[in-house]
Amino acid sequence: MAGTVTCTLPARKRRHDSGVLSAPTVPPRRLPGVGDLLCLRSDLLNAIQYAALDGRELSYFSVGPKRMVFVNRSTAADIVLSDIHTFGKPDGENPLRLVLGDGLISNPFHDQWLRRRRALQPMYSRPSLAGMRQKMSEVIGEHLGRWEERERTELAVHEAMLSFALDIVARCMFSRSGDTVADVLTPGTISFLLDFVDRRLRGPLSLPVGVPSRRNRNFAATMRDLDGLVHRLIRERRGGGEQHGDLLDILLAARVGESAEPLTDTEVRDEVLTTFVAAYETTASALTWILYLLACYPDIQREVRDEVRAPAPAGAGDRQGSTLLERVINEGMRLFPPSPTIPRQVAENVRIGSSEIPGGAFVMLNVAAIHRDPAVWERPDEFLPERFLNGVPGKGTFLPFGAGAHMCIGKGFAMTEMRMLLSGVLDKFEISQRESAGPAPRALLTLRPRAGFGLTLTRM
Ligand code: HEM
Repeated sequence: MAGTVTCTLPARKRRHDSGVLSAPTVPPRRLPGVGDLLCLRSDLLNAIQYAALDGRELSYFSVGPKRMVFVNRSTAADIVLSDIHTFGKPDGENPLRLVLGDGLISNPFHDQWLRRRRALQPMYSRPSLAGMRQKMSEVIGEHLGRWEERERTELAVHEAMLSFALDIVARCMFSRSGDTVADVLTPGTISFLLDFVDRRLRGPLSLPVGVPSRRNRNFAATMRDLDGLVHRLIRERRGGGEQHGDLLDILLAARVGESAEPLTDTEVRDEVLTTFVAAYETTASALTWILYLLACYPDIQREVRDEVRAPAPAGAGDRQGSTLLERVINEGMRLFPPSPTIPRQVAENVRIGSSEIPGGAFVMLNVAAIHRDPAVWERPDEFLPERFLNGVPGKGTFLPFGAGAHMCIGKGFAMTEMRMLLSGVLDKFEISQRESAGPAPRALLTLRPRAGFGLTLTRM
């Protein structure tokens, strides 16, 4: 059962701005024919936060023939996440499949997904992470080195974190980030693909991808370049026989099911793109909001800096466990969840408590609302990393990485990357805010700042 964590939280003046996450406004009304299209298109985050204000467990939306049910409370979220057969991944209509094929995130076939998930476990094992740490530290050194060239660097934070997170995943996947990989797999390319998917998710009806509209033609050309690059890299690697100690090596060595078959080229391609999409915008989003919060709270920034500069206690390894830095990361992802919604779909009519969900409906976990539920979180809009000293308040209450069988397989990778980058930044720079107004959050597939915003890094 969820309940408020019993731990005395300190008084701390609120210095950050959460925009519609803490103060949603009345959204546009439902209209005949298109239903909630305007409301969801104009500002999805505002609409779902507003709908959750009255404490209802579920809120219902429709866009043309599509039904969407948002789950606003942790008890219902736990029911959804624990029953992966009733609440499965969205089926064949899922536009993510146009990009990711049957990779782990978008695969709607339970048995196939399970075999694949087991086969890919070595990518995220301790020995693999140990190898990735070396590659991450090279990329972090390159980025910090650029910011260190000047006494003060004005950082366009989200753009800088997108570029950083993409370099990390490219280096860990292919052992390189320069040359053609960087030409084809750019932040712009991935953002375009995610926007393409997002529009199709939220629109009432979308043109089939075969119809040669300008957007569809751009999509087809982008996918051609991307597929060409990834298939070429797979071919080169299969032909080379050399080991690089990267994620592609592990993918090619993976064996699936009892017959221990290797993945086909198409399956490897699906998992490569899935890893890029899963690892890139989410991590960049988390880091963006955490850096913003550290700039807003100089006292906490100082404390974390002292912690990361102090010699690690004997046997602490890479400082896993509950450090202040980890509590700051958790609190940052609670206030600004990188994946503000998690999608599922039901095949048949289902009940949660006394509420009915119609068959075919998309069931979206409203992580943003669950993370600020005042029945669970004391002073939910405040930045209080101390609240994580006692763990989380209960099942379904804290879902930055989801929960249950589909829980993010890259959580360890992401936490390692975030700990390493933030430790490096805090060791070398003081982070401060340029503008007094905070960045307004906006939800697409990930939570982004609505417009670019800057922070100042001053060399220490
Ligand atoms: C802060 C960074 C990250 C956040 C917040 C995040 C969050 C999530 C969430 C919410 C899910 C969906 C769970 C569900 O559908 O129930 C997910 C799934 C997944 N994530 Fe992450 N993720 C992050 C980083 C990463 C990284 C770095 C990787 C890989 C290197 C990764 C790989 C995946 C994969 C493959 C899945 C699909 C798992 C499955 O359904 O079996 N993620 N992630």
